[in-house]
Amino acid sequence: MSDIQEYIGRELARATDEILDFLRIPSVSAKSEHDSDIRRTASWLLERMRDAGLEAEVLETAGPPVVLGEWRGAGPDAPTVLVYGHYDVQPPEPLDLWDSPPFEPEFRDGRLYARGSTDDKGQLYLHIKAAEAHLKGKGSLPINLIVLAEGEEEIGSPNLVPFVEAQKERLACDAVVISDTGMFAPGVPALLFSLRGLAYFELRVAGPSSDLHSGEYGGPVVNPAMALGRMLATLHDDEGRITIEGFYDDVLEWDQEARDAIRALPFHEDDFEKSLGAAAVGGEPGFSVLERLWIRPTCEVNGLLSGYTGEGAKTVLPAEAMAKVSFRLVPDQNPHRVAELFRAHVASVTPPGVTVTIEELHGGLPWRAQLEGRLKQAATSALLKAFGSAPVLAGGGGSIPIVGEFERILDAPVLLMGFSLPGANLHAPNEWFPEENIELGIRALAYLYEELGQSPGASNPKL
Ligand code: BES
Ligand code: MN
Ligand code: MN
Repeated sequence: MSDIQEYIGRELARATDEILDFLRIPSVSAKSEHDSDIRRTASWLLERMRDAGLEAEVLETAGPPVVLGEWRGAGPDAPTVLVYGHYDVQPPEPLDLWDSPPFEPEFRDGRLYARGSTDDKGQLYLHIKAAEAHLKGKGSLPINLIVLAEGEEEIGSPNLVPFVEAQKERLACDAVVISDTGMFAPGVPALLFSLRGLAYFELRVAGPSSDLHSGEYGGPVVNPAMALGRMLATLHDDEGRITIEGFYDDVLEWDQEARDAIRALPFHEDDFEKSLGAAAVGGEPGFSVLERLWIRPTCEVNGLLSGYTGEGAKTVLPAEAMAKVSFRLVPDQNPHRVAELFRAHVASVTPPGVTVTIEELHGGLPWRAQLEGRLKQAATSALLKAFGSAPVLAGGGGSIPIVGEFERILDAPVLLMGFSLPGANLHAPNEWFPEENIELGIRALAYLYEELGQSPGASNPKL
């Protein structure tokens, strides 16, 4: 076994303890009450990056700071790889649905339970330990490495694009590597061929200037909750297609070969339904469950609020109603265009008697991988060595808004290779990460850095 892999085995217990420490800090970006925890997490990460042998710095943005770690000792002929991850997490609520407290990490049944174990602190940390294995186990890395950890991914990374634009020269690289997704199934690693984009809105429907007695006023007054319900119901047809005029115009249809590859994956709709505790009967006709998850857009209600929702009954005609509505987008859709189409649709279905305002909360571009050549080969071979099986190509239903921006600003391909598993409860109570993938993930990433550093001949760092 190489010095590097030997180091990983020898230092695994300490690596694991450090992950637990990382997970204990409640770095929730959505709530200002956690601002000091966010900063504490950034300083903690800074120190661990330095311990690992990276030169590290905390860089301020208008929001949570970026922690940047660098090692540039491989020289100008070696490739430069930018690793990206996020140290912020989703709010843990509802707390009573957790079997152990979200910020008191606990191993049960081969799983590490904690908020952020999968998304993304646990996975980000695997990269730091893989870099450390090279730097401490061998004394060097065969690639130049930049680790960029941000603290606001879960709120849409509003300050990261300007940061990357401003630091474009310093972040220049031959590839971006991200572990913020999962494997296809236990024992089946995955490389992602796509991510969906996002367009997220808050819709407010206002009626009378105050709540009213529903007997004294009900009848002639348009009820904002009813109006909102009717408007939302117009977003899909009875079969599950989105009815917004022009919505599908920019949707790229995937060729038969790509669709066949998805169909060939070992996926059973029954198991999927069982894992949900619900029948997955919905969705767009003509597409399989995986296609609906990966290569087709969606329109969802994420939250609804109006009127009386407490115990018992209250006869009230609410003054307003609110819905959070989001769209998952696929190439070549664009969140700005979708916003225009959504506004036009809502205007066309707004009944007289109410006024509607739409606020755009966040958006992100969809992404399709340009995965080929050395980058794909290196990832395949690294995963094969660590997991004993080659990766499948899978889509990602979720969004990582910065991915498309990295490709645009840095002109480098992005490799998405994560170690979580389906059902890991990201954003939900009882988030977990597979215990064995702490070790296998570090090993796979250490192999990846090794493979990426292997001389391509003619000193060509391009990946
Ligand atoms: N790691 C996820 C994205 C993800 C999850 C991609 C599963 C593929 C599969 C990321 O942290 C996330 O949750 N992103 C948000 C978007 C953001 C703008 C809040 C999402 O997808 O909702
Ligand atoms: Mn994430
Ligand atoms: Mn997330």
